Amino acid sequence: MTFRHTLLLRNGRIIDPANTIDEPGDLLVIDGMISQRGKAGSIACPPEAACIDLQGIWLVPGLIDMHVHLREPGEEYKETIASGTRTAAAGGFTAVACMPNTNPVNDNQSVTSFILTKAAAEGAARVYPVGAISKNSRGTELAEYGELKRAGAVAVSDDGRPVANSQLMRRALEYSGNHDLLVISHAEESSLSENGVMNEGPLSTRLGLRGIPTVAEEIMIYRDLALAEYVGRPIHIAHISTRESVDLIRRAKRKGCRVTAETAPHYFSLTEEAVGIYNTRAKMNPPLRRADDMAAIREGLRDGTIDAIATDHAPHSAMEKDVEFDQAANGIIGLETAVPLTLALVRENILTPARMIELLSLQPARILGVAGGTLTEGSPADITVIDPEKKFVYAKEDVVSKSCNSPFLGWEFTGRAVLTLVGGRITFDGLGQTEN
Ligand code: DOR
Ligand code: ZN
Repeated sequence: MTFRHTLLLRNGRIIDPANTIDEPGDLLVIDGMISQRGKAGSIACPPEAACIDLQGIWLVPGLIDMHVHLREPGEEYKETIASGTRTAAAGGFTAVACMPNTNPVNDNQSVTSFILTKAAAEGAARVYPVGAISKNSRGTELAEYGELKRAGAVAVSDDGRPVANSQLMRRALEYSGNHDLLVISHAEESSLSENGVMNEGPLSTRLGLRGIPTVAEEIMIYRDLALAEYVGRPIHIAHISTRESVDLIRRAKRKGCRVTAETAPHYFSLTEEAVGIYNTRAKMNPPLRRADDMAAIREGLRDGTIDAIATDHAPHSAMEKDVEFDQAANGIIGLETAVPLTLALVRENILTPARMIELLSLQPARILGVAGGTLTEGSPADITVIDPEKKFVYAKEDVVSKSCNSPFLGWEFTGRAVLTLVGGRITFDGLGQTEN
């Protein structure tokens, strides 16, 4: 890793939705901060500075992934805070929010502090821990939110499993308000999804697999929206995957509810057909849905119903994945493919470049209430450079994550992050790479 005190990023296409900017420009980084922004060619290279000419490729605020699983503590063979943040950097992310389903579960200050200490020492990205809603994420007793907040948690979630008990969810929404912690809902009605391993429909029947109906997600979103509205608290819905989920959130927003929602790149890039002949690399929860769901997710991203794109990066080893489909663990890695998959929507004219950056940087920062998401002068130099035309093959040998459970292995992509800076420090440098 290189750390240069003065760096001039010259002649990029600056896309900064917070300032409604999309124009050629230069950025001067001094001691970890964005010290000056100017028109292309307007900032002279100071003698002591390193200067990189970007030749018109995108210069954007550092991407923020508000939903990843770093697996440390407890499952370091799948990913660690060091490897997960390195993977984030390679994908263009400067910050990640990590879910609490580690071992032990992050339901107390010692786990939160451990994560933050490790991230400060070894991290290649900023790490924002998400604490558990309930002790051990068991859904019976609330965790200590004051303690989690003081230790540095930014939100609470029992992600990986739903909060089945409505009274507990109500209390979580109320209690989190006293500590200014966002509640993130993993929306799943377990009595409907129980034992399901893929989307429910004709395909699951044909494959002989137990299905997870779309309504399992929608009923829980409906409940959580109702509870959040009743107690007057905001709520964030994680990884939405169905047409009706988009619609529910659209209607709630129209009514003025304080709801935000994220989806993951696989839900706008793949359908249940990717399960193919029992490909466990297409198994995750919620599952891949059908073409009309995918179309609705795309429309939700376009029209502002869905606020953020988060990867749900969920590393698992061959031990959990190279087994019978119904025995395989849920989840796929996503940090290295989010940018190219989202760029595909830009090429299809579903998203503008500015909207893409809003979804991957500005909105996650706003929803979590953390720094970043903008290239305003005086902000920390968390910066991503994206070459939208760079072609590459996502090959197994090139995977940065410790795990390689991705349905996108072998795909040929156009566009990727080529340079990532966190607080002015280069955490990923792919500018020198040759094309495949
Ligand atoms: O596919 C998933 N993987 N969904 C979840 O909710 C949890 C995650 C994991 O931790 O592997
Ligand atoms: Zn989840």
